[in-house]
Amino acid sequence: MTIIAIDGPAGSGKSTLAKNLARALGFVFLDTGAMYRALALAAQRAGIAPDDEARLTELAHQITLRFVAQNDSQRVLLGDEDVSDAIRTPEISDLASRISVYSGVRRAMVALQRALAAQAHGVVAEGRDTTTVVFPNATLKIYLDASPQERARRRQHQLQLQGIEEPYEKVLQEILERDARDLARADSPLRIAPDAVVVQNDGWTKEQTFEHVLALCRERLGQA
Ligand code: DC
Repeated sequence: MTIIAIDGPAGSGKSTLAKNLARALGFVFLDTGAMYRALALAAQRAGIAPDDEARLTELAHQITLRFVAQNDSQRVLLGDEDVSDAIRTPEISDLASRISVYSGVRRAMVALQRALAAQAHGVVAEGRDTTTVVFPNATLKIYLDASPQERARRRQHQLQLQGIEEPYEKVLQEILERDARDLARADSPLRIAPDAVVVQNDGWTKEQTFEHVLALCRERLGQA
């Protein structure tokens, strides 16, 4: 099985990159952040407090998550419900970041991620720990990075496209808080794997990032 694993902070463009790479390579796109978000949504609906580790862990073992291709995009199903849009609100971003600190939650999610990957011949996975914990033997590891200011501008634009208006300073503050949580958590903090290729994409378009990383993939896969 071939695995391209991409980690990096919030707003670095991992999702767009991973989605486009998966399409170009004919691989499955494993959006691990969407899985933590779907769990956050399920927890919110079940009225579970964000600090109730035991109940969150139990819930992580109970939920069924699937990705299904639809037209040109990929949808996330929680049970049989399409939650792809519901998991993209700022509230769920914040909640996902809080519940993903717990080891029990992470263990359940990592097991699910490996099981989903095992069904495919090729996978592009993205998240915070796919290069370090989930797929330590990935074929190619990318650490995608950009400055907090650049990432806040991108996130603000993305939210605008969803019809959500948020001031730049607030988006930047949220990015910095999520960075702090992702970096500081005891279990599987965001780290640059020693064998990862670091791609710093400040000032690059999505297309430039894609072309650059696609070339790295083809080189590693012997398709150059
Ligand atoms: O990449 P994202 O914004 O969709 O991720 C949502 C949250 O889940 C984010 O706060 C970090 C967390 N996450 C994680 O802890 N581990 C992953 N592999 C992916 C996401």
